[in-house]
Amino acid sequence: MKHLISARDLTKDSAVALLDSAQQLSQVNQRTVKSLPALRGKTVVNLFYENSTRTRISFEIAAKRLSADVINFDAQASSTSKGESLKDTAQTLEALGAAAIIIRHPMSGAAHALANRGWVSASIINAGDGRHEHPTQALLDALTIRQLKFSGSDLTGVKVLIVGDLEHSRVARSNILLLSLLGAAVSVAGPAELVPEGIAAMGATVYKSFDEALAEQPDVVMMLRVQLERMQENEAFTTRDYIKNWSLDQTRLTQLGKETVIMHPGPMNRGLEISNQAANDPRSAVLRQVENGLAVRMAVLHRVLSGELTN
Ligand code: CP
Repeated sequence: MKHLISARDLTKDSAVALLDSAQQLSQVNQRTVKSLPALRGKTVVNLFYENSTRTRISFEIAAKRLSADVINFDAQASSTSKGESLKDTAQTLEALGAAAIIIRHPMSGAAHALANRGWVSASIINAGDGRHEHPTQALLDALTIRQLKFSGSDLTGVKVLIVGDLEHSRVARSNILLLSLLGAAVSVAGPAELVPEGIAAMGATVYKSFDEALAEQPDVVMMLRVQLERMQENEAFTTRDYIKNWSLDQTRLTQLGKETVIMHPGPMNRGLEISNQAANDPRSAVLRQVENGLAVRMAVLHRVLSGELTN
């Protein structure tokens, strides 16, 4: 695998192998000496045109744990502000030795363009492109679900409900594709104006009501961030209605099973899509998701750069 642009790039076998590799690498992260020499001599660039805490930092730590050199590109402090294009920027980074470029970009398709237009020969990893995909988030979510709802090497039989702003969510799209590929039964629920056309065709059952979907007793409830920054001015959205119908609030929290896993990709809008009580509940896996992001990104970097893993 040279690039990771979409969850569609993975077969069931390759996804399971990545999860197995991440599980193994998570043990390295518990050691006193946490580094492996696998990517020594390789340079990895974090090319982020949008803000990020979890993804950028975990890719940076992941690359360092594998002994790669890491460069963090700050779009605002770069020549992008002078009008330099994505193509010229990527070619410049490759001329400086980048073997892998991890890209986050507001334009859906930016990572695909970088990987497939012949601009660079570096490996490209999609760290989130517009409202399209965020495949390493889906992998870390799959690893978290596998750890907490273990049903074998894949997710056969696990019921996952994804709730909220589906329209703007690259996390939802990658998760529907990957979790379905791994055998999970994926359902989604969200306000009609925030449910994109074609989401059922991706493999999800669509509910028009959060409460109706909760009555099906999902094993996992994944809340999505309301992406206010991506809403158009004319998009109908009122906070009060959203909280009433779509928030994982105190009442809905009491309807979850004792073993139901609460997930959120972060950053959370506490008090909007998720209450403080739900975010802090013992069933919340939010910080485990973050922790798993590190191991998954180590596995992905290793896979695309084909370094030799040694203990
Ligand atoms: N989940 C996620 O992508 O978080 P960041 O935007 O902080 O990277």
